[in-house]
Formats: sequence, C-alpha cells, structure tokens
Amino acid sequence: MLLACAASEVPVDDTAPAHPDLPEHSSCPGDEALTDEVCLAVVEEDGRYPTYSVNRSYNPEVEDDPRLEDPDYIWLEEQIRDCTCTCCHRTAFGGPGVYLWDLDYEPVWIDSMSSWSMRTFVGETDEAAQTLPVEDVERFLSVIEAERQYRRDH
Ligand code: HEC
Repeated sequence: MLLACAASEVPVDDTAPAHPDLPEHSSCPGDEALTDEVCLAVVEEDGRYPTYSVNRSYNPEVEDDPRLEDPDYIWLEEQIRDCTCTCCHRTAFGGPGVYLWDLDYEPVWIDSMSSWSMRTFVGETDEAAQTLPVEDVERFLSVIEAERQYRRDH
C-alpha cells in the first residue's frame, strides 16, 4: 500500500535547464517562437556584454524618412524578426551585436549597419554565419541595392 503510493509520486526534476531548446544562431523559427524570454536566454547563453548602436551609414536624419513606409524595407525587417539574429541585434534584449547593427536603432534601423556589414549580411563576404537566411533572395538583394543607392544619393 505504502509502496504503491510512493510509486505514483512524480519526482520534480529541478536540475533541468530553464531553456532546453534555444534556437540555433542562424535559424528562423518565426517571431512567435522568438519570445522576449527566448531571446533574453539566447543573449544570456552567448554571454557577451550588451553594446550600443550608432549611425554607421552617414545617412542624414530626415523628417518622415521614406524608407519607414517602404514595403520592401518593412518586409526585410519582418524577415529578420523571424530569425535568431534579432535576439543579439536588438538593444531591447541587451544584444552583444548591437554595435554593428541594431533593429531598435531609430528612426531607421538599417542606418546602424555599415556598408561593409551589409556586404556580409547579403553573403558577399566569407562570413556565412552572419548572412541573413531569407527565402526570397532576389527581393532581399533588391532591398539592399536600394539602400546602397539611397546612401549614394544622400
Ligand atoms: C548570439 C548572438 C548573435 C546572433 C544570434 C547573431 N549575431 Fe550577428 N553579431 C553578433 C556580434 C556579437 C557581432 C559583432 C561582431 C562579432 O563579434 O563577430 C555580430 C556581427 C554581425 C554582423 C557584422 C559583421 C561585420 O563584420 O561587419 C552581421 C552582418 C551580423 N552579425 C549578422 C547576423 C545575422 C544575419 C544573424 C542571424 C543569421 C546574426 N548576426 C545573429 C552577435 C550575434
């Protein structure tokens, strides 16, 4: 009788890690999977210190920046939010990668990314781990090309 009761008690495993399933560095599980909690855990696991962002584009700050309304730029931002990249590249999460680009940089986040880093971002350098995995590569390249043109014009 006593033994039967004992066997039905489920032991509590308090040695289990709090976040057993952190997403991979370059995966895109979707923004619903990348909750604040998950992103904070990614940053904690990474262990590097938070940084801060600056304007690395030399684009001037203009009123009602047209890029904020541009569907292609909006699309790109949504793509990034689906990927683990967003965790380390947002000031809101204390991300260690923020000093090279910051999705929270205002008014236009891409101004925090240098033209050199944009090359890595689209896969023109050897740093595959820092290239954004998108499904629509053509659209991705055309947004970056538009940004390069914007930089030349400003
Ligand atoms: C675990 C944290 C972390 C994640 C996740 C992360 N990054 Fe980064 N990223 C950094 C840090 C830190 C740097 C600063 C440079 C370095 O240490 O390599 C950086 C730098 C970069 C750079 C600038 C490279 C250069 O040399 O100018 C690019 C581009 C970049 N990341 C893209 C991405 C993309 C795309 C993803 C997702 C596929 C991503 N990162 C995911 C932390 C991260």
